[in-house]
Amino acid sequence: MKINVNEQGHLTIGGCDALELAQNYETPLVVYDVAQIRQQLRSYQEAFKQQQISAVVSYASKAFCAKAIYQVVQQEGAHVDVVSAGELATALAAGFDPQNISYHGNNKSLAELDFAIAQQVGVLVVDNFYELTLLQSLLHYKYPRQTIQVMLRITPGISAHTHEYDQTGQIDSKFGFDVNSGQAEKALQQVLQNPQLDLIGIHAHIGSQIMAVAGFELLVAKLCQLAHAWQQKYHFETKILNLGGGFGIRYTDSDEPLTAQQFVEAIVQTLRKEWVNSDSELPQVWIEPGRAIVGNAGVSLYTIGSKKTIPHVRTFLTVDGGMGDNIRPALYQAQYEAVLARAPLAAAEQTVTVAGRYCESGDVLISQQALPATQPGDILAVLATGAYGYSMASNYNRIGRPAVVFAEEGQGQIVVAREEIVDLMHLDQDYVKENE
Ligand code: LLP
Repeated sequence: MKINVNEQGHLTIGGCDALELAQNYETPLVVYDVAQIRQQLRSYQEAFKQQQISAVVSYASKAFCAKAIYQVVQQEGAHVDVVSAGELATALAAGFDPQNISYHGNNKSLAELDFAIAQQVGVLVVDNFYELTLLQSLLHYKYPRQTIQVMLRITPGISAHTHEYDQTGQIDSKFGFDVNSGQAEKALQQVLQNPQLDLIGIHAHIGSQIMAVAGFELLVAKLCQLAHAWQQKYHFETKILNLGGGFGIRYTDSDEPLTAQQFVEAIVQTLRKEWVNSDSELPQVWIEPGRAIVGNAGVSLYTIGSKKTIPHVRTFLTVDGGMGDNIRPALYQAQYEAVLARAPLAAAEQTVTVAGRYCESGDVLISQQALPATQPGDILAVLATGAYGYSMASNYNRIGRPAVVFAEEGQGQIVVAREEIVDLMHLDQDYVKENE
């Protein structure tokens, strides 16, 4: 893992000393290296430019959602995708151009569809027949003069080799219209018959934390076949192929992710080979990376507290956060690496299991990690926690979620405040029994 240190030998994030960040903003703290976020967005954009193909990079904001990230993504000229009214409202509050937002979800409510249309969201990615029906009635009764851009999400029948919970493109998936059984074609017919729906492309997403190009090559080939078949039969021209996200990242030194360039090259080469609609231009390619944009840019800082050594078994080192701010180890057996912020490069002197503070045995962030000697009060930095950490955080045990800092060129700035105890009781109401 890439580790930056300053003259004092301390870990730095975005040019800021991690110990100072912990002191100024307290722990647990999630810190993002903003330059790294920008660099990741640019690496995908540049890779498409190199391949001389028109493309849109859309950040999947479920990986980390806060006003600040939408602002950075907008500065980099990328789009975003959202999956709820909450994410959409946050993007809009951040000043994000609604035209560059795509709206996903496998059970969008009528109110959410209404909100998206009213806010003039760029694209609605239609997932199922129920949604299609809701959308058509809404347009008919409430927005009779409006046309909206849609994409159809299809289930391509491709299994990505990743964690079971992270697979979405296989046949047995809750997402999208199934191609093999003819659902996708039926959805196409329905959309083409409605003049208020402007179908601009086909969408598919095969999974997450994918470490090989094979799944994307199969996907592109499948979508090209589909586009060809639909052109032949319905004279429908596919202007956009949206391949979803899923590009894997390095969590520990044993992960060997591909680069943006490798993924993009494989995608574009397959497209050029498989695009058989010879009388129409190559479609524009959209991708939706979430993890690859923010995963490695995020670091979680914790303060070390208690230590328990069970002779000949293991040593638990407990930190002041855990499964409430990072559920991924408990949920997916995800692996992380940690360094001691005051001496990230110092030689290891102990092997510890980093446990969280939550009341659950499964609240272990890292099992068996080598570290230098530690003292209570030391700051431990768990690396690569930027994706699906804060965004999946909970208030289990009535513990507030951490603060989030953006660090860039040596300046740190709070972008999400720490959740305090009063915030936790904000929604509670006293229970008063009638007649007492
Ligand atoms: N597009 C669609 C339609 C998606 O469903 C997802 C992720 C993405 C893009 C972004 O995928 P990414 O590039 O981040 O892999 N909580 C899990 C990951 C769930 C991903 C859900 N969908 C985890 O922590 O591993």
